[in-house]
Amino acid sequence: MPAAALFTRLHGAAFYKALHQQAAGMLPPAAAAQTWLDVGSGPGLLARMAGAKAYAVRAVDRDTRMIAAAKAWPGAWGEISYAVSGLAEEVARGQRHDVVSASSLLVVLPDPREGLRLLAQLVKPGGRLLVIEASPQMSRIKAWAMLFSGRLGPGGALLALWAMARAGRALPDRLFTSWPGGQSRLPLLDGMANAWLLEVPGET
Ligand SMILES: C[S@@+](CC[C@H](N)C(=O)[O-])C[C@H]1O[C@@H](n2cnc3c(N)ncnc32)[C@H](O)[C@@H]1O
Repeated sequence: MPAAALFTRLHGAAFYKALHQQAAGMLPPAAAAQTWLDVGSGPGLLARMAGAKAYAVRAVDRDTRMIAAAKAWPGAWGEISYAVSGLAEEVARGQRHDVVSASSLLVVLPDPREGLRLLAQLVKPGGRLLVIEASPQMSRIKAWAMLFSGRLGPGGALLALWAMARAGRALPDRLFTSWPGGQSRLPLLDGMANAWLLEVPGET
């Protein structure tokens, strides 16, 4: 199945929506004119949640099919602009945002630590970086156990697929716990994934 079709299904799965909703809940609703950039948006799940919180959202993905899927998603979700663009291109663009998010992006980059550094460059001083990633605790056995517990709802089988893709590849917690600024972690899916909210220091 092409990646955009797979992620479109995932973005409709109850457990995936719920965990992103929990993660987005770490941020307050936007104050006037606050911006949110989602990098590696896929079909736009997190961007829609940011739009619903009244941020002016820019959602970028380097895959044109992902952006086409995001644009085709039905419903009105606030002010969202989509663009085919990559992390490095966003840094080169020079625009900074109150919130920058990336869900399951760092793990697919060749150098996740460098990816985190680049994401931070996109955040305004005093802003926040929200990163959602599978944790080293994610495993096929735990995913199947959760699936058979009946807690996952429609689309729950996709958790098993996610666990298969991440087994032995999840990013270590220390990538985030070594963040030099304030940070908080929200465990998701019984700790199989985490949302990390990282504070970017303000100007002194
Ligand atoms: C694993 S998918 C995650 C999609 C979505 N954020 C989610 O959580 O469902 C990773 C996405 O990042 C995109 N991507 C990979 N490298 C990128 C880069 N350097 N800049 C922007 N997007 C990138 C891929 O095209 C893909 O859509």
